[in-house]
Amino acid sequence: MAFLRPDEFAWGAATSAYQIEGGRHEGGKGESIWDRFADEGHMPESGDVACDHYHRWREDVALMAELGINAYRFSIAWTRVLPDGEGDVNQAGLAFYSKLVDELLAKGITPYPTLYHWDLPQALQNRGGWANRSTVDAFARYAAVVAHALGDRVGHWITHNEPWVATFLGEVEGQFAPGLRDWRSGLAVAHHLLLSHGKAVEAIRARVPEAQVGIALDCRPSAPASDDPADLAAQLHFDGFRNRWFFDPVFGKGYPEDMVAAYAARGRLEDGNLWFVAPGDMEVVATPIDFLGLNYYTSLMIEAGSEESEETGVAPGPNPPPGHTEMGWPITPDAFVGYLQHIAETYRPERILVTENGASYSDGPGPDGTVDDSRRSSYLEQHISAIDTAVASGVPIEGYFVWSLLDNLEWVSGFSQRFGLVWVEHSTGRRVPKDSYYWYRDLIANRRREVAKL
Ligand code: FCB
Repeated sequence: MAFLRPDEFAWGAATSAYQIEGGRHEGGKGESIWDRFADEGHMPESGDVACDHYHRWREDVALMAELGINAYRFSIAWTRVLPDGEGDVNQAGLAFYSKLVDELLAKGITPYPTLYHWDLPQALQNRGGWANRSTVDAFARYAAVVAHALGDRVGHWITHNEPWVATFLGEVEGQFAPGLRDWRSGLAVAHHLLLSHGKAVEAIRARVPEAQVGIALDCRPSAPASDDPADLAAQLHFDGFRNRWFFDPVFGKGYPEDMVAAYAARGRLEDGNLWFVAPGDMEVVATPIDFLGLNYYTSLMIEAGSEESEETGVAPGPNPPPGHTEMGWPITPDAFVGYLQHIAETYRPERILVTENGASYSDGPGPDGTVDDSRRSSYLEQHISAIDTAVASGVPIEGYFVWSLLDNLEWVSGFSQRFGLVWVEHSTGRRVPKDSYYWYRDLIANRRREVAKL
């Protein structure tokens, strides 16, 4: 099938369902844990309307076409397809994504749907959510339903987005939905997310044999603050906590032994062992993938005492220290190069797609109506150049997706953090392409011209 292996680099943009769709009560959608989390007052704004993409999707695809991207990463809301997570399939929900896919293909844009960008059906949460192993089977069925409906046109699939965030921010630190704080069940959640990834890969391939399937893992490269053995040990632990716990099992290395021992010693594991791992699980988790999706924003320097928290990590890097985006994240493109090389050497993925990279800056329309966000263009340029360096050294990167197409609902930060290439006025839904949108459009066009000359 021609759609399966684009012969050109995927220049894309990314979004997720809860952050842009709105349409909370439309088309038979069920309640998700983020709907509930917002209702409970944990967020400055809810996603009930968000960017109103549920109604404006044609306009948004037109913006993508004008931008010149050939790939679009979006997520499917499980609650549109299966309002209760299990049970009856909601055809109206599938029809929404089916129309979107058709429109993308008509404009020459390859769809890259993500099945899970954190919006678990509340009905499943009521039965224990990801801590309950039966959610793994519910996810595999959901994957099968979506693959059956869209697999005649969609060849690229992403199972999960950032299982570290879903696990640790959602179920250990309680900042994100469902707002739980429990290390022991948190590690079971992480395992069930990974297990469901492997089962979803199988479920998709069973319906779309030539599908290209991957997972989008977030990463936080880090460096020790000094040569002090305590800092070195803290950095190793941070890397295990933040990165290796997910990368290692996906690539068949199992859970890292140093971390199992450390978690057991810290009382993070019931009875000191991986009680949630059943025979055969690790093989399923390590089901070979066609590409690794990597989400990269920043990196940290780790000192002793900060090894299980991002918050206390400090920015690495040159003197003077690097700038920060408005998320407070240090801008560290050099660490990106090193990490891409490290991933390629350690895990040998067949291909890497950078499935998210971008910057939050609040620049909005000036008196002439245009949006001067050159800070964003500069951030993107530095990171694309990091990718060029990594590619030149042999790292097999085949795509890049800017986070994000639109200013959207940045989870618990609400609308205050703006990552879009397109500015959105949230009271009206009005969209205004920013200067970075035109910058990215020109970059894509120039790169295509360069490739055509070869
Ligand atoms: C990532 C998320 C994405 C967005 C960006 C800024 O962790 O996947 O939804 O919030 O960060």
